[in-house]
Amino acid sequence: MYLPIGITTMTDQDKAIESRISEKAVDSFNDAPNARYKQIMRSLVRHLHAFVSEVELTEQEWFEGIRFLTETGHKCDGLVRQEFILLSDTLGVSMLVDAINHRHSASATDTTVFGPFYIEGMPEREFGENMAFTPGEAALVRGRVVDTQGKPLADAVLDVWQTAENGMYSGQDTEQPFGNLRGRYRTDANGYFAIRTIVPVCYPIPTDGPVGRMLDAANRHPWRPAHLHFMIDAPGYRKLVTHLFNHDDPYLDSDAVFGVKHSLQVIYEDRVSHDDLSADLGMQVPFKRACYEFVMEAE
Ligand code: BEZ
Ligand code: FE
Repeated sequence: MYLPIGITTMTDQDKAIESRISEKAVDSFNDAPNARYKQIMRSLVRHLHAFVSEVELTEQEWFEGIRFLTETGHKCDGLVRQEFILLSDTLGVSMLVDAINHRHSASATDTTVFGPFYIEGMPEREFGENMAFTPGEAALVRGRVVDTQGKPLADAVLDVWQTAENGMYSGQDTEQPFGNLRGRYRTDANGYFAIRTIVPVCYPIPTDGPVGRMLDAANRHPWRPAHLHFMIDAPGYRKLVTHLFNHDDPYLDSDAVFGVKHSLQVIYEDRVSHDDLSADLGMQVPFKRACYEFVMEAE
């Protein structure tokens, strides 16, 4: 049996001492007046102690863990960089929380991670307006927002954001113009929306902090498959936070944050001639086009 240096075989007496410590720590939350808080803290402490016991954590490893969490906190700036969210994302916790909280009807559009790069209050954009002020492959993303009965939803707001071709979001990359590859679009009277943009590219999540070191130590790559973020709001419907992923991205099966769902993949097809909209929008051929129908669930 492998035992970390300094740890000897456990006797029945050791076992009894250790479980008494755990039991007392768990029970110390018994008098919490808030029942949900009590449930969460008792469970958290129980699982934390079970983990420490299972791996027989050394004092050095305990200290390394404390240092890792401290550095994670220091890396957060309260604006663009949120290393704890990144940690939650890369441990799969964000997607588990998302799954638990969106056990929606099978016909509604799947949700996925929000990510740390959303910026509130981005410009309202016209139907089909171009939100790309940096180079890339011209694309038209169009489609409809409907309810689970197929009824089109007029005036739904689609808040969208994506990275530039350098793999960075405006805000994160201060060289990019304000509002680059971000904007709030509205559906028309028949529930249709149209977004002029560039084809999204895959990009690595930030690796210059403790999360990057964790990925490195695990021999994991930091890449996210190319995607366009959406947060869709329609009065009376559950807010929909999701992405559309490029269907041919090499990282679809190994997203660093486990966010991919098959139903959210779209094809950016080659258009060598105009469709019913692209000429009116002043687009040049050839361009790429992706179409999608979002299905919102009533609140
Ligand atoms: C994103 O897609 O923007 C993202 C999601 C999770 C972690 C980092 C970035
Ligand atoms: Fe993203």
